[in-house]
Amino acid sequence: MAQALSAPRPCDLLVHNCAELATPLGTSALGGAALGRIQVQPHAAVAIVGDRIAEVGAEREVASRWSPRARLDARGGLVVPGFVDAHSHPVFVGTREEEFELRTRGATYVEIAQQGGGILSSVRGVRAASEEQLLVLLEQRLERFLAHGTTTLEAKSGYGLTLADEIKSLRVLAQAKQRQPVELVSTFLGAHDYPLEYRDRKSAYVDLVVHEMLPAVAESRLAQGVDVFVESHVFDVDAGRRILLKARELGLVRRLHADQLSLSGGARLAAEVGAASADHLEFVDDAGAEALLAAGVVPVLAPLVPLYLRQEREAPGRSLIDRGLPVAITTDYNPGSCYCLNMQEALAFAALRYRMSAAECLTAGTLNGACALGLGATHGSLEAGKQADLVVLDMPNHRRLVYELGGNAVRAVVKRGIVVRDAGKAVGT
Ligand code: NIG
Ligand code: FE
Repeated sequence: MAQALSAPRPCDLLVHNCAELATPLGTSALGGAALGRIQVQPHAAVAIVGDRIAEVGAEREVASRWSPRARLDARGGLVVPGFVDAHSHPVFVGTREEEFELRTRGATYVEIAQQGGGILSSVRGVRAASEEQLLVLLEQRLERFLAHGTTTLEAKSGYGLTLADEIKSLRVLAQAKQRQPVELVSTFLGAHDYPLEYRDRKSAYVDLVVHEMLPAVAESRLAQGVDVFVESHVFDVDAGRRILLKARELGLVRRLHADQLSLSGGARLAAEVGAASADHLEFVDDAGAEALLAAGVVPVLAPLVPLYLRQEREAPGRSLIDRGLPVAITTDYNPGSCYCLNMQEALAFAALRYRMSAAECLTAGTLNGACALGLGATHGSLEAGKQADLVVLDMPNHRRLVYELGGNAVRAVVKRGIVVRDAGKAVGT
């Protein structure tokens, strides 16, 4: 009573007129039954002070306690946390439509790579491009990520494959961080493939990554983490282990492309090196899944990738969840295996392919993604104290999030408490 009678406190932004607000809760990655236990608040509002959420609740109560300097009218939409996409390769020049077409005619991803296409064709583009050219392209892509509701994005280098070209890519990411609203977590992926000049001396390239690239990347502070494409046609488990143990020694976070195209032992290696995430996992086996669970590694699944590669085998999403693993869902946006940056699409495909509920998908695309990036304490849910990153969708309820296929339902985006898109349009920051 005393509270209701006291004068409303000032807040910077009130998001109101939300038909429904849906969010996971907490600061740690959720698996098993907890993955689908979200909070659903009808007729909700969110009060924001600075870049933080001050209160989330029923509009009647929240609106009575705060006197906002600005309002964002959700116009009867759905409000969810900004999407956290925990795996992407957005620094590249040129697209690879011709490879897509080759695959529709029966070629496989590995065959195309072995004929000099695939990752190496993107390497030619990045090496030839200037930092300025890469930045223009990256910023255009980030604007589209934001327009589709992604407010935090893990972004890898990996199309340079020389120290200078990898640093160039990481510098482009660092510049983009200062210039636009999507929050970036950078990862060094020098071990994405063997560059042409090392094709006949692969162990010399691993030596280069371990002895020269990793120390220089750590010193530069341009990357939070290190990723390795562990697969039989690229880096085997021994090469991956050498690189990731060095990364650990240097205090860098470890991530892996693990068991994507075959059971190559990536998941077990992820557990062994204390990785933050093990990504893809189409071919993971029981032992690999158990190892991830025991080591607290977040599985980051990319449901659009097998579809795009015309690969039959998919990650065992449902069984990983039922085993208790806190899966996250990503687009894996890149020019080769998934030219789609829309998390709404990735979540809908996760529901269909992995038999996940809408609530599970929401957690997997927000809080669990944040936890895969070490940001669970501040990102991924709508709760007092967390960073004010949210999306207003032109939808009446959270189940619609995976029921609706195609298009973009994002109406407005708030990043760090600032309305950065409204009515589908960019607004000044
Ligand atoms: O996540 N698997 C390796 N890397 C990407 C594909 C990169 C590319 O083909 O350019 C992936 O699928
Ligand atoms: Fe990838």
